[in-house]
Amino acid sequence: MGDTIVVTGRGGTGKSTFTTLLSRFLGESGVEPLLLVDSDPDESLAEMLGIDLAAERKKSIADVLSDILEERRMTRMTGMTPTDKIEPFLFQETLYEGRGYFDFLGVGTKWIAGCYCLPDRSLGIIMEKWAENYRHVIVDSPAGVEHLNRRITKKVSDVFNILDPSKKSFDNAKRSHRIMQEVDIEFDNYYLVGGYRFPASLDGEARKQPFEYLGRIAADPRITEYNLAGRSLLDLPDDSPTYQSVKAIAMKVGYPR
Ligand SMILES: Nc1ncnc2c1ncn2[C@@H]1O[C@H](COP(=O)(O)OP(=O)(O)OP(=O)(O)O)[C@@H](O)[C@H]1O
Ligand SMILES: [Mg+2]
Repeated sequence: MGDTIVVTGRGGTGKSTFTTLLSRFLGESGVEPLLLVDSDPDESLAEMLGIDLAAERKKSIADVLSDILEERRMTRMTGMTPTDKIEPFLFQETLYEGRGYFDFLGVGTKWIAGCYCLPDRSLGIIMEKWAENYRHVIVDSPAGVEHLNRRITKKVSDVFNILDPSKKSFDNAKRSHRIMQEVDIEFDNYYLVGGYRFPASLDGEARKQPFEYLGRIAADPRITEYNLAGRSLLDLPDDSPTYQSVKAIAMKVGYPR
């Protein structure tokens, strides 16, 4: 398998948009198959990719795990490790197998009270196993830093932290970097990217940070229009300044690879 890429940052900075357009760039460059993982419970990544999860009858891993545990389906299957028991259900009910260059997996957060460790642990094991089938795994994170404690991914090549124009955003970058080290998530590179609201006047401040700054994502009003209309960002015209800037940022660090 190839690399695991994690996109993180504060709320609303453009993480899911970046994840979608980075995937599109890799896919269009022939770097495939990709596994796109939404670890945000609001499932906006699927919409941006044009996937209707309900119509496809796909649920998040957390939803399926809690169904299994609630229905006690597992008690009928003795003699196997918990992960072996649940994996066939998970595969069928969660993995969206795209017809193009990517598959999609929603992680979700609905754990049953008093039973957190099995889901997160199983998820880690399953992700590692499934990841072997893909060229890269790209994980879109929810806002904030709490999700890092779940350690869904333990070995990451590139982290992209998307910034908005606020001190909190620079603080978030430092904190999530520190937490990843504290919870033993290995990563090779930790990059800062100016989100679509990040002004050129803050480039200097971004360069002073202890992480490499890769430049800004350009704004494109069509992104909001597409989101409102429920249209996939994979259909955004090729000349969209946002798509072009995401491409340029990715190329700076050696993609497509
Ligand atoms: N490049 C862009 N140009 C114009 N608007 C954008 C751009 N990127 C994002 N937006 C706007 O910001 C909104 C949030 O973007 P997105 O969902 O990618 O952010 P996020 O960081 O994933 O948010 P969350 O923290 O809620 O997951 C979009 O619905 C869109 O309206
Ligand atoms: Mg998002």
